[in-house]
Amino acid sequence: MKITVVGAGNVGATCANEIAIREFADELVLLDINEGITKGKALDLWQTSPILSFDTRIVPSAGNYEQTSESDVVVITAGLPRKPGMSRDDLISTNAKIIKDVVENLVKYSKDAILIVVSNPLDVMTYAAFLAADGLSSKKVFGMAGILDTARYKSFISRELNISPKSIHAILMGGHGDSMVPLPRYTTVSGIPIRELMDEEKLNEIIERTKKGGGELVNLMGTSAWYAPGAAAAQMVEAVVKNQRRVFPVCAALNGEYGLNNLHLGVPVVLGRNGIEQVIELKLNDEEIALVRKSAREVKELMKVLDDLNIFSRKFSHLDPVV
Ligand code: NAI
Ligand code: 2OP
Repeated sequence: MKITVVGAGNVGATCANEIAIREFADELVLLDINEGITKGKALDLWQTSPILSFDTRIVPSAGNYEQTSESDVVVITAGLPRKPGMSRDDLISTNAKIIKDVVENLVKYSKDAILIVVSNPLDVMTYAAFLAADGLSSKKVFGMAGILDTARYKSFISRELNISPKSIHAILMGGHGDSMVPLPRYTTVSGIPIRELMDEEKLNEIIERTKKGGGELVNLMGTSAWYAPGAAAAQMVEAVVKNQRRVFPVCAALNGEYGLNNLHLGVPVVLGRNGIEQVIELKLNDEEIALVRKSAREVKELMKVLDDLNIFSRKFSHLDPVV
């Protein structure tokens, strides 16, 4: 198996580290336009191999896409994190151009790869990657956010109940932003419904903290998180490479599921060798479906910002997301 991670910054390097130590790739290419960073981080990572005992071959690439040839899975973390004073629209413009450049180069050398997008704004950049990878099945182009957001939600519940995070199970839907939809009805502690163990007020506090989880870390560190995002992306790679068919919330192209169409949004999927093997349709109640649709409309607004930049010839934002 050959895996490529594009972007050797905070998230990309952490993801590469997780992939290397788990030894599910024969070859791991770490590509970045910053030659010193990619060479230095690949070398530093490789020098952990005798200590951590792995033999994943790590290849640095200073923007040479030929070295990514025949990749099975690619994680795309290239792009700016949002900086203070930067508008969301500025971020869309900058990162969409990067995604276009990266994806067009990748698909030249890996025609059948699975692309996992991490760059922000996540739902829109997944849409941008899908547009740039013209010809690649939408089952093979998807985004990482839900595993991270769910991990935050579960970690807060774990702390509050003083119960191992391993025993907390949950699913979350919607866009990667304030409109995300944590789902208490689908949250359990080893099968015990969360509402039997936590009162509504505390649960709502945790839901609100989860929605702002990315911002909490930006406020603390002046840039966005990397340990949990890197680990989350690596977990998705592992599910694909090992054909695990695990169920995760993933930013996926919707074709009528949940009554939604023409956009990429966080939904539960089965992740396996072919990428998105199945979108799972939960039996949401009216309140939950209304929140998911509200989130879809917010993502659609950001898609429009991208479409108006005229970077891509195909456009979907003018189409109503609600079937
Ligand atoms: P970073 O600034 O540490 O790293 C980004 C890297 O991308 C840099 O090394 C830069 O040289 C590289 N890069 C820029 N243009 C490139 C190009 N055309 N080709 C190849 N490499 C290029 O940023 P960090 O913290 O690693 O975040 C990366 C992205 O991931 C950001 O957009 C951030 O907002 C997003 N993110 C998304 C999360 C999610 O849940 N989906 C969670 C955390 C971050
Ligand atoms: C995060 O949620 C900002 O997307 C980034 O940490």
